[in-house]
Amino acid sequence: MNRTETLRRKDISHFWHPYTDINSLEKKEFPVIEKAEGVYLLDTEGRRLLDGISSWWCVNLGHSHPDIIGAIRKQSGILQNSITGGMSHTEVIRLSEKIAAIAPGDLSRVYYASDGACSVEAAMRISIQYWWNLGRPEKKNIISLSGGYHGDTLGCVGLGYISRFHKSVEHVLKRSITAESPYCFHCRYHKRSEDCGLECFASMEKAITENSTSTAAVIVEPLCQGAAGMRIYPPEYTARLRKVCDENDVLLILDEIAVGFGRTGKMFASELAGIVPDMMCVGKGLTGGSLPMSAVVASEAVYDAFRSDSQTDRTFYHGHTFCGNPIAAAAACAAIEVYERDNVLENAGMLSEMLSEAFWKYRSIEGVHGSTALGCMSALEISEKRGGAVTALQIADSALRKGLFIRPLGSVLYLWPPLVTRKKEMEKMLRIFEDSLIENLS
Ligand SMILES: Cc1ncc(COP(=O)(O)O)c(C=O)c1O
Repeated sequence: MNRTETLRRKDISHFWHPYTDINSLEKKEFPVIEKAEGVYLLDTEGRRLLDGISSWWCVNLGHSHPDIIGAIRKQSGILQNSITGGMSHTEVIRLSEKIAAIAPGDLSRVYYASDGACSVEAAMRISIQYWWNLGRPEKKNIISLSGGYHGDTLGCVGLGYISRFHKSVEHVLKRSITAESPYCFHCRYHKRSEDCGLECFASMEKAITENSTSTAAVIVEPLCQGAAGMRIYPPEYTARLRKVCDENDVLLILDEIAVGFGRTGKMFASELAGIVPDMMCVGKGLTGGSLPMSAVVASEAVYDAFRSDSQTDRTFYHGHTFCGNPIAAAAACAAIEVYERDNVLENAGMLSEMLSEAFWKYRSIEGVHGSTALGCMSALEISEKRGGAVTALQIADSALRKGLFIRPLGSVLYLWPPLVTRKKEMEKMLRIFEDSLIENLS
């Protein structure tokens, strides 16, 4: 048995993989990665695989970025962990200042967590306690979008319920109030972008106005409902949402965990909508995808509601052991410096043009139901008539054999390359993607 096969055997003996069907994994010759550089994952058989989904949407600056590695190395020799409850350390101070400097508007108070889901949990709890602190405990519900995804803790699943993933726990969830998804792939109003009047927003507006007295916050993934199948929707939706939240005394939380740090072409998606939320959740690209770290970035007004006085304790009693971990903070500082110094958004602009042009062209391939693109995210749907999700998986397998790693979301195939991908590498990704489509659809 060769080394890779030995490793696979050991893997399936002990490792419980996330979001992975056990039976098909056990039959599959899945890649075992041992190294990664730039846009490539290198497996134990010496194959170089283009990382077409930035390793679950986070490696925006490519793998093994020398500045991030340098920062991690340096920091790990100085201070690996230090409690942040009631005291501080140099790296978390440095990072908080950097985040406040790049965050939209007056978002300047940074609360740390480790994974995206933990930051959403924190934002949810901040919003509920915000109103409790202001003497309005009846404002305790959250409104979210149908088909949204905000992480896999039970609290988050109550907000972002996707039946395929979460139906086994539906009976124990506290579900949010949900508004209709802005699902442009299958617009219920049969509109195209040219004549879209945001008809789907009426459902959100109704949810907010009818429940404003009991609602603490609305949370949405701005501009793209990722895990639902890359449902990209117009920025005007988020702009209108800001207005209606303001009119109804409801906080707005934007979950930028997937789209923050350049994915839409702007540092944060809210900039495309021209608005500032009350809170923004970030994760994934914050450390350039190198280490787990997430954060809630809140406005001054939200933060101020947590000041105690002699009569009332308004403290936010919520936290995680590794809040603001120094090594992750050092990695995030290095990543933010790279985003700013290396004109990453300019490169992302070039990739965005290539992606949207290619995905527009793929619409003419029989079996492709439609396509969508924004910034460095592009998706298409395989029509049910041509096998939908089953065919999408076959296409991903073909791409893997040709050297491109992608992972479909049901019948949706997408590319989400590192923002630093070079032109030639992008051309190669698109060539393999197209060849794999044609091979399986013609
Ligand atoms: C929009 C959004 N929110 C939250 C999460 C959860 O993040 P994590 O997997 O780091 O918990 C994700 C993960 O994909 C996401 O896309």
